[in-house]
Amino acid sequence: MMSKIITVIGNGAAGSSIAGNLRNSGFEVKVGVRSPENSVNTISIEQAIQESEEIIIWALPYNAAIDLIGKYENDLKDKIIIDMMNPLKGDMSGVETFNGKSGAQHLQSQLPESHIVQTFNHVDAPVLENPTGAFQFVVGSDKDSVNQVANLAKQMKFDVEVIYDLDRTKETEAFAFLWIYYSAVINQNFTAFLKLHK
Ligand SMILES: NC(=O)c1ccc[n+]([C@@H]2O[C@H](COP(=O)([O-])OP(=O)(O)OC[C@H]3O[C@@H](n4cnc5c(N)ncnc54)[C@H](OP(=O)(O)O)[C@@H]3O)[C@@H](O)[C@H]2O)c1
Repeated sequence: MMSKIITVIGNGAAGSSIAGNLRNSGFEVKVGVRSPENSVNTISIEQAIQESEEIIIWALPYNAAIDLIGKYENDLKDKIIIDMMNPLKGDMSGVETFNGKSGAQHLQSQLPESHIVQTFNHVDAPVLENPTGAFQFVVGSDKDSVNQVANLAKQMKFDVEVIYDLDRTKETEAFAFLWIYYSAVINQNFTAFLKLHK
């Protein structure tokens, strides 16, 4: 049975768009932020994690998430972590790797008892909120968690393809980077929203 409360950590362009889609898709959404007093419908990250069911979406800058998760390792045990974060290098010369690991693999190594599933990272905020059949890979090594996230993404109006191998996030993160590089560096704006269709 799919959980009805979905927790989102972060309320920027990505977090607020994914939360909007989830609410429109009938889910109860709890959004955790570092300063809940500054935005409506948000709670502290700590409270959001304490009150989470099985799915938590991390929508922070990658390094901010890595700095925070250690504190919550026990609370995140056995939970499904949706990693929609791209560990972009600050100079936009590529994606960070961590001793050869992707961001998602590195996250998994920091949270060995959680189930990391990567998706929603190769899509832009307006499409996150309103995908109308846009395509996303759903990538992870725990088959049941991947299937649950794929099911969630379908309810959010994404077309999905699953890959049961977290190692392939090296390619999904590189793929996301290529599009961001094209938009931000070559085109110098984000009007070229990535909206893939199969
Ligand atoms: N934007 C997109 O279209 C898009 C699409 C797919 C994936 N993503 C990924 O989603 C993630 C977030 O991107 P974004 O565009 O939403 O960024 P953003 O608009 O800059 O929002 C960042 C969010 O992270 C919070 N934050 C930053 N540093 C923090 C820290 N040290 N501790 C706690 N919270 C912190 C910010 O909180 P404050 O408001 O308190 O600063 C804000 O809620 C990135 O990893 C990005 O690669 C983005």
